[in-house]
Amino acid sequence: MLGIIGGSGLTKLPGLSITHRQVIRTPYGEPSGPLTFGDLGGHPVVFLARHGYGHNIPPHLVNYRANIWALHAQKVSHVVSVATVGGIHPELGPGCFCVPDQIIDYTHGRECTFAEYNGKQVSHQDFTWPYCEDMRQRCLQALRGAGEPCLGAGVYAAVQGPRLETRAEIERLARDGADMVGMTGMPEAYLAREIGLCYAAIAVCVNWAAGRGDSAEGISPEVIEANLAHATERLRTVLKNLACMSYGAEAPVAPGGVCDI
Ligand code: HPA
Repeated sequence: MLGIIGGSGLTKLPGLSITHRQVIRTPYGEPSGPLTFGDLGGHPVVFLARHGYGHNIPPHLVNYRANIWALHAQKVSHVVSVATVGGIHPELGPGCFCVPDQIIDYTHGRECTFAEYNGKQVSHQDFTWPYCEDMRQRCLQALRGAGEPCLGAGVYAAVQGPRLETRAEIERLARDGADMVGMTGMPEAYLAREIGLCYAAIAVCVNWAAGRGDSAEGISPEVIEANLAHATERLRTVLKNLACMSYGAEAPVAPGGVCDI
């Protein structure tokens, strides 16, 4: 089954007909909220708002372990994470989507692994390619099917937040090779890898990163809000397209169904 983690602006899933909500208890504490089970384009999905349904959990306080554990415990096999970013790459301006293929992690102090001292041999998980390529390709197909502009790959710089960056920090991230900057990509992606979920992200650019483009003198919250509202509306079709693909044991998509791809 497909799990959808909604970021800023995506506290509800447009077009989802909800069957039930479920509070999941995890060994790592409370997820950001109850999981919402429902039907999108005729296919079952589970939705979770990363920042809470009231959008009140800042990026550094999200319980990433509980969120990922809860989805896994509900037999989710594939996860798409929707995450807003500031654009660094010259072609990744506001309104553009990207399906990143790499991550640089600048976060700190977050619970970043399920591995705990339990007397077992320490093992180190491969993370050379941090996203599941199968899921990345599905995301790209869903975006293209919806006619959305998107970059097919890019380096996601995960920063601590909740503040935005300085101009010099963005220059440094650009020198490091980052194409976009966001606050929630890690440790979420790594935890998904550790637990065995096929995970990819759709990055939604809502502003030029600090010091670039129309953010040369600062980043206006109104600009972010407006771009976010517009992108969220367009994500409706993209996510429906994703839901319409088959995941594991589910029945394949019926031809002539409600999907746009
Ligand atoms: N920086 C970090 N995170 C973000 C930004 C940004 O400019 N825009 C949206 N999320």
